[in-house]
Amino acid sequence: MEYNSPFILWQSELQVINAKNTQAREAFVDVADVQVGSPVLDLGWEGDCLECLQKTGAQATFVGEDIRAVQKAEALRINGVLSTMPAQVISDVQVVFYKPAQRSAKGQVFEWIDQGFQALEMGGVLYLAGQRNRGIRSYAAYLHAVFGNNKRAGRVDRVEIYSAKKERDDPGQAPIDNRMTFELYDLPGSPYTVETRAGVFSRDDLDSGTRLLIDCMEVRPADHILDWGCGWGALGMVAARLSVKGSATLVDSNIRAVSCAEENLKRNRICNAVVHVGDARVFDRREKFDLIVSNPPFHDGNAAAHPLIEGAFRALRPGGRLMLVVMRPESYLRHIRRVFRQGRIMAQKDGYTVLEAHIGN
Ligand SMILES: C[S@@+](CC[C@H](N)C(=O)[O-])C[C@H]1O[C@@H](n2cnc3c(N)ncnc32)[C@H](O)[C@@H]1O
Repeated sequence: MEYNSPFILWQSELQVINAKNTQAREAFVDVADVQVGSPVLDLGWEGDCLECLQKTGAQATFVGEDIRAVQKAEALRINGVLSTMPAQVISDVQVVFYKPAQRSAKGQVFEWIDQGFQALEMGGVLYLAGQRNRGIRSYAAYLHAVFGNNKRAGRVDRVEIYSAKKERDDPGQAPIDNRMTFELYDLPGSPYTVETRAGVFSRDDLDSGTRLLIDCMEVRPADHILDWGCGWGALGMVAARLSVKGSATLVDSNIRAVSCAEENLKRNRICNAVVHVGDARVFDRREKFDLIVSNPPFHDGNAAAHPLIEGAFRALRPGGRLMLVVMRPESYLRHIRRVFRQGRIMAQKDGYTVLEAHIGN
């Protein structure tokens, strides 16, 4: 089949790109043969392709869900927007690139394919890259369901690239809605109604580690609490309910998580808490806390743990406490003791450990 758009390199044969000296992400951008000035939407939410895209001279917009990826785009002078709904911030683009992040949930990838379809102008093309063992085949099938066509447009080592052209106004199926709700009755301050979405940590139920931390959490009535990396808001909601005369600040770098946490505060009529999107490694020097709680991102290792522990030490008031739940406690505890000069294991269960440290009065 022939397509007319000058912006698309559309081949009848599978293009196998020589990967010898070419990074997969460069090939991903190359395969679209983007023209200087053409409006392009980059949905690679970790900002994987930004540098390559910049070299093409396209008029690129990056939409991501994590503030750190958007900041990376801005540092490269690429228009970066933080959103879970790209089609609400940009339309009529000629090319969409989407390389799902390694840890993306399937439902979330489907949502973003829907969004890519909506953001494209008629005749525009969505390019999707990924590895076979990371679900690219099922994503390609979804691409076909939405666009009514798809094609394997390239391959670099184990990374396959699919493309699909927008040939009709309406998608082949209704956009997916990944929201789900559940109730929690056995936590302090219960009941809680929870809404989550695909792609948010522990979206089906309360995480066992988070539950253990809640079991250990001692919240005083006037405490000001920080929930560092709040996800859908479990720790912050419970803390805010218990601190009847105090308040809680919930922070997450991911706007999807933040939108769930906001919704959950509303649903549960919790008025003494606020939610911010931000890189919580950077503490606001003006805000001081009595309690900082976190189930920190284990994939980020020390890159998150060290700034969290060091920032908590500076942000806690005299008598204030840091409480973390982790799976491999050794290096956390070592760093806590280095910074706080003390620190202890409060509880251990099912592979989770709760660590505690405090600031002397
Ligand atoms: C293991 S999850 C815990 C979520 C939630 N507190 C819970 O217990 O269900 C870690 C959370 O930290 C967030 N996160 C990771 N790095 C962050 C950072 N630098 N600043 C703020 N949040 C971060 C992630 O988006 C994720 O929601």
